Amino acid sequence: MQLTFLFLAMMCCALAQAAMPLRDLTMRQLYLDVKKLNKTIEHHGSLTLKNPGTDIKDCCITSALQCYRSQVDLLKVSSNALLCHKVQRSLRKPHIFEKLKGINISRQDCQKNQCQSCDSYPSTDSKEFMTKLISLLEMANSN
Ligand SMILES: *[C@@H]1O[C@H](CO)[C@@H](O)[C@H](O)[C@H]1NC(C)=O
Ligand SMILES: *[C@@H]1O[C@H](CO)[C@@H](O)[C@H](O)[C@H]1NC(C)=O
Repeated sequence: MQLTFLFLAMMCCALAQAAMPLRDLTMRQLYLDVKKLNKTIEHHGSLTLKNPGTDIKDCCITSALQCYRSQVDLLKVSSNALLCHKVQRSLRKPHIFEKLKGINISRQDCQKNQCQSCDSYPSTDSKEFMTKLISLLEMANSN
């Protein structure tokens, strides 16, 4: 009886500890995947992508991530399609969203209807696109 309780107590602590860094782990993994993806892309000027950049308001993170995801779709032809797919899946994870949301906590003056549409972001080449995505994830990683 006592032993069971002790075991449960230990399980509980182990779970609590594991739950803490999961967000960080997910973000870290995505960051590594995107870095790896960047290496497999055949960067050439002809492919232009909508680029949400890194200056994203808190309440617009979801739509910006959606935009990043849709643009990664266009990279599939010029890079590792499987890795693209994995990155796209990760960009949809709540952990990633939560991690990014913490960056600009001071910006409360944000309304969802003010978020830019994907089409209205500037177009850049794939290299610049990856640079921005990687810096965004770097900012979240160091947060
Ligand atoms: C946060 O705000 C700063 C200052 O406006 C900006 O430079 C930075 O890109 C923003 N980052 C994110 C992820 O919103
Ligand atoms: C992405 O890859 C290109 C070409 O391989 C490289 O020049 C660039 O520095 C990489 N960008 C990042 C942010 O790692």
